[in-house]
Amino acid sequence: ATVFVLNGPNLNLLGTREPEIYGSDTLDDIARMLEAKAQELGLAIDMRQTNHEGVLVDWLHEAREVGAKAVLLNAGAYTHTSIALLDAIKAIGVPVIEVHLSDPAKREEFRHISYVGMGAVDEVKGLGPRGYAVALEKAAAL
Ligand code: DQA
Repeated sequence: ATVFVLNGPNLNLLGTREPEIYGSDTLDDIARMLEAKAQELGLAIDMRQTNHEGVLVDWLHEAREVGAKAVLLNAGAYTHTSIALLDAIKAIGVPVIEVHLSDPAKREEFRHISYVGMGAVDEVKGLGPRGYAVALEKAAAL
């Protein structure tokens, strides 16, 4: 079974981007760690990053088309703004687990709303890169 791991805007800059908040691991580091975790769990992952909202919508649709088992979604700031992502999550019938490196609830007020969370079956927040592995375990258990 394949799990899509979709990453949104600015996550390509992990490693140098506000390291005091997001840590020093790059997205490639996270991909390598998650690949090992996936093998352990007997899953395949398809991990991607884009800065474009509509591309995330397209990839959510693709998750349905290919029959993905689940989607781990770190939509970055689109989490807090995108009704289009919420609609896509509701449309595809594939379980989505919301992932964030930081805990948006403990940050600025404008990060407290999550449209992604309104459609997601579960969430992992504030655990840094390890949160992706925790989310993959949750996906494996679905
Ligand atoms: C983030 C949290 C969002 O609020 C922020 O816009 C990001 C990263 C996280 O992983 O902690 O880009 O999704």
